[in-house]
Amino acid sequence: MIRRFKVSNFRCLEQADLVLSPSFNLIYGANASGKTSFLEALAYLGRGKSFRGASTDNLVRHGQSEFVLFGETVTEVRSQRIGVRNSRAGLEIRVDGSGEGGVAALAEALPLQVIDPEVHNLVAGGPELRRRFLDWVAFHVEHDHLETWRRFRRALRQRNAALKGRSAPAAIRSWNAEFVELGEALDASRRRALDAAIDSLAGFGRGLLGTELGFEYQQGWSKDRSLAASLEEGLERDVQQGATQHGPHRADLRIRYDERQARRLVSRGQQKLLASAMILAATETAQTALERPLLLLLDDPAAELDGESLVRLLAAVGGLGCQVVATSLEKDALSPPLGAAVFHVEQGVLSPVETG
Ligand SMILES: Nc1ncnc2c1ncn2[C@@H]1O[C@H](COP(=O)(O)OP(=O)(O)O)[C@@H](O)[C@H]1O
Ligand SMILES: [Mg+2]
Repeated sequence: MIRRFKVSNFRCLEQADLVLSPSFNLIYGANASGKTSFLEALAYLGRGKSFRGASTDNLVRHGQSEFVLFGETVTEVRSQRIGVRNSRAGLEIRVDGSGEGGVAALAEALPLQVIDPEVHNLVAGGPELRRRFLDWVAFHVEHDHLETWRRFRRALRQRNAALKGRSAPAAIRSWNAEFVELGEALDASRRRALDAAIDSLAGFGRGLLGTELGFEYQQGWSKDRSLAASLEEGLERDVQQGATQHGPHRADLRIRYDERQARRLVSRGQQKLLASAMILAATETAQTALERPLLLLLDDPAAELDGESLVRLLAAVGGLGCQVVATSLEKDALSPPLGAAVFHVEQGVLSPVETG
């Protein structure tokens, strides 16, 4: 979790320097006051990128040349100083003074999840978000996941380059062994991550939607064939497409639910609840593995949810014991728990509000 957080020149936020509550923080303010920007800044410090997919040019405050973010993170056993500076020259990362660990070191120092008004895409959108979701769990649960994933990506790029370059079949096949070895390792790592998360997924599904959910990992190639055999069979098509059609880069996490739930899931609100259940389950799984509370960012959780659903979501969040930073239009909309830190934001300026 993060105690102190400093921002300068990030979007509409000129300067902010605040001490956050280890439990619940509420940022409230009118539309376009800077609420999402504040959460985006926090998330950037833990990820080295924007959850809104924005480029640096859009993130640097208009008229400025760089933004700087700084945080002090704490666990039971240690505190760390993490910082990010981003300008047109590029991204500079510091974790306890060292730039070596890069984005992965940020993610270890400040692991976080986000529930924002786009969260329904995790359910309603394509498989990429669900792969990323599962990879995030695996990154925190499986020690070698990131390294395996990076090496697989390299092997995939090399094989695809050979396909695009219309290399001879023998030259393309020469990449297969490495591709298969790393692809199978990535697959196994994701399956173990899903195993670790499966009870939490079912639990939050019941808690938020009142229904039994099933989750099934689809590996990205035929169930009845080895990856090696799939590559061999698909070679001609791979050459035509100029890209590898089979492998864990094509995986998906399928969500199974009953018919009643399927009818409901046409609604944005239900999709948001289901996606939120998945995010909370991932958070819980990572917390268990890391043995420390994570940071959960809730951007306008009231959007799209009816009153009862919002109460359920907030209760589930409360039960997680993570550090929360939530935004809302109104001060009282989320009934912040006792001891919460409350900040009012107006035109990019945050001010602490006394709570009684
Ligand atoms: N790079 C930037 N520099 C200055 N202002 C920006 C920048 N990017 C966005 N803004 C402005 O920041 C304001 C706050 O946006 P946002 O954080 O999304 O508000 P909220 O979530 O409170 O509705 C908007 O008015 C937007 O125009
Ligand atoms: Mg907003």
